[in-house]
Amino acid sequence: MTIDQTTTVARDLTDRTVVVTGAAGGIGKEVVRRLHAAGAHVVAVDLREPGDVPEGVTTGTVDITDPESVRAFADRVAAEHPGRLDLVNAAGIVEDDVAAAEMSAEQFRGVLDVNLVGVFLTSQALHRVMAERGEAAIVSIASMSGNHVVNHPQKQVAYNVSKAGVTALTKTLAVEWGPEGIRVNCVSPGYVDTPLLAKKHHQFDEWMRDIVPGRFAQPAEVAAAIHFLLSDAASYCHGTELLMDGGYSLR
Ligand SMILES: NC(=O)c1ccc[n+]([C@@H]2O[C@H](COP(=O)([O-])OP(=O)(O)OC[C@H]3O[C@@H](n4cnc5c(N)ncnc54)[C@H](O)[C@@H]3O)[C@@H](O)[C@H]2O)c1
Repeated sequence: MTIDQTTTVARDLTDRTVVVTGAAGGIGKEVVRRLHAAGAHVVAVDLREPGDVPEGVTTGTVDITDPESVRAFADRVAAEHPGRLDLVNAAGIVEDDVAAAEMSAEQFRGVLDVNLVGVFLTSQALHRVMAERGEAAIVSIASMSGNHVVNHPQKQVAYNVSKAGVTALTKTLAVEWGPEGIRVNCVSPGYVDTPLLAKKHHQFDEWMRDIVPGRFAQPAEVAAAIHFLLSDAASYCHGTELLMDGGYSLR
């Protein structure tokens, strides 16, 4: 690991393989591009094969809610990619607006299953390989939702709870796995300009009033933060939650 932070070497990801889940999504796609440009070999996975990836990126499919397919995927990655292995958990879903009083157990579990259980299963499956290889970094995408704000006016109890869970998971894994050489951190974006947001047009004005720069984040800005936390420039970050919400939670 590079502890000398005086050069850009600390941001270099050469000689690493980085698995990115949710790689077909708005943020995931940018993460793949950014990490590839920083020298990493990227394994980009999603429910469907991610398209439009830079040359040299490996693509695949995995459902992160299915423990067996996640384990099989981890075994495949381990066999095909010797050397350091890192992980970015970028897969996630959001429910349509449903009042907490009306939400079914199935709806609640469905969101938790992807956003929290899926992140746990993927991290756990790759942890075995990471621990064997001695050094690794995991970065998950949590959210400002849950810990810093409760999404409003949209009602999204399951999403809020799931993302608060991701920050708790991050801190717990950082403590359990840090001594094995694995740094575990997360980013918590505010509203990001992606397809996940696109169906909420009617709420844009209300959100925008509280965003300090008066615009949504771009996926590339989230990718830059993820790159930082993965890299040796973040060598002293363990269990860090990087809140990047354009100041939304301050107002
Ligand atoms: N867009 C925002 O405003 C925003 C804000 C804060 C946090 N986030 C988080 O960032 C992450 C990426 O969001 P995005 O905006 O790029 O959303 P997106 O919908 O564009 O991408 C999410 C991707 O996750 C994949 N996915 C869903 N379920 C999966 C499963 N079971 N297995 C594997 N892949 C699965 C989807 O196919 C999709 O490609 C999510 O965790 C989201 O909660 C987004």
